[in-house]
Amino acid sequence: MHKVIFITGISSGFGKCTAEYLTQNGQVVYGTSRKSIESNNQINILKADVTDLASIKAAVETVLKKEGRIDVLINNAGMGISGPVEYASAEDIKVQMDTNFTGMVNVIHSVLPAMRKQQEGTIINISSIGGLMGLPFQGFYSASKYAIEGLSEALRMELKPFHIKVVVIRPGDFYTSFTSNRKIDGHLNENNPYEAQFLKTLSVIETDEKGGMKPDYLARKLGKIIGLKHPRSHYVIATAEQKLAVILKRLLPDSFFSGILGSHYGIK
Ligand SMILES: NC(=O)c1ccc[n+]([C@@H]2O[C@H](COP(=O)([O-])OP(=O)(O)OC[C@H]3O[C@@H](n4cnc5c(N)ncnc54)[C@H](OP(=O)(O)O)[C@@H]3O)[C@@H](O)[C@H]2O)c1
Repeated sequence: MHKVIFITGISSGFGKCTAEYLTQNGQVVYGTSRKSIESNNQINILKADVTDLASIKAAVETVLKKEGRIDVLINNAGMGISGPVEYASAEDIKVQMDTNFTGMVNVIHSVLPAMRKQQEGTIINISSIGGLMGLPFQGFYSASKYAIEGLSEALRMELKPFHIKVVVIRPGDFYTSFTSNRKIDGHLNENNPYEAQFLKTLSVIETDEKGGMKPDYLARKLGKIIGLKHPRSHYVIATAEQKLAVILKRLLPDSFFSGILGSHYGIK
């Protein structure tokens, strides 16, 4: 039987590919975007912004009125801000945390009453490898993803009595609109002491992403995970090299691992 799936952020990247893949495979998909987009391929598009609780509540209500249930929530909407931590503006830090973290909480709050009544459901939170290791010049992005990791761990235990599963996805580098949507923060100019290093590191970050995997790979993985009766609590979906970095982060002394990661990003 089909599942009713609610995905945030389906105008591009993972969200778009996943919504298309799941629809083609017989699932009933509702997805949000802040833009007004025409619904196509039977994907039901709802205008909502994860940072605006009322808009998310209204979108969830629409789904519940039509379908009577939400089986799977995929918390995907997100964006990245890059720049030196020291120079980040309070406004940009807020946008980063409001979108990636508080926005996710808004959606979870809106969906949970229905899932609890159903006594079943799956919440899939899109984190990042950057939620397992602090990435230079993406400090607040990493912080937002670490926050998701902690929240998901706590939530998984709280929701166990209601038979609701919480799964965390940690993608490595993928080529999506994430790269072009990235906001550069930090009042960069020639007087900024981080300027040269930041630009060097940013170029590595962008090269990694542009050479990254295609989002339809992640969509297929999500399709499989949704079909599992007992999914794992987390999945790293990345290249072999990035998976190795995750393992090394756990095994190596911090100073040694930071040296390796820093040198990948051109930091001596
Ligand atoms: N690409 C990667 O390498 C990578 C790696 C690890 C993790 N991730 C994570 O994967 C998720 C999806 O990213 P992506 O790579 O697919 O990037 P993307 O192509 O830029 O897509 C991001 C989606 O999020 C939506 N969005 C952004 N802000 C929103 C808001 N305030 N409210 C509602 N929707 C919002 C956008 O929709 P609208 O603009 O239409 O609202 C868009 O559909 C993000 O959480 C990102 O952190 C990406």
